[in-house]
Amino acid sequence: MSSSTFIDVADLNDLPPGGHLLVEHDGQSLALFNIDGTVYAIEDLCTHDGGPLVEGEIHGYEVTCSRHGARFDVRTGKALCMPAVEDIRTFPVEIRDGRILVCLDED
Ligand code: FES
Repeated sequence: MSSSTFIDVADLNDLPPGGHLLVEHDGQSLALFNIDGTVYAIEDLCTHDGGPLVEGEIHGYEVTCSRHGARFDVRTGKALCMPAVEDIRTFPVEIRDGRILVCLDED
């Protein structure tokens, strides 16, 4: 069994409920969303054409890519509508002592 490594990426105070935050780690861009007090982390890269997702509108648990309107579930990464057909990556999140930690390990 492999152990998961959680990386400290941000202060929870910088991501209030309803907020979004872009963080970088090792050249990877992550979009963090706080939805009703729960933090979700996805790769900030739309699978349609590489658009950023962090600035996308959130409705419920869905983020809409600002470029061509694809929608993804931030909990599962599932692509929900055209033009995206591939899911996006999601990452496990933990909150420890007011810090946001994300597990970037490959599956
Ligand atoms: S780049 Fe996101 S919908 Fe086209």
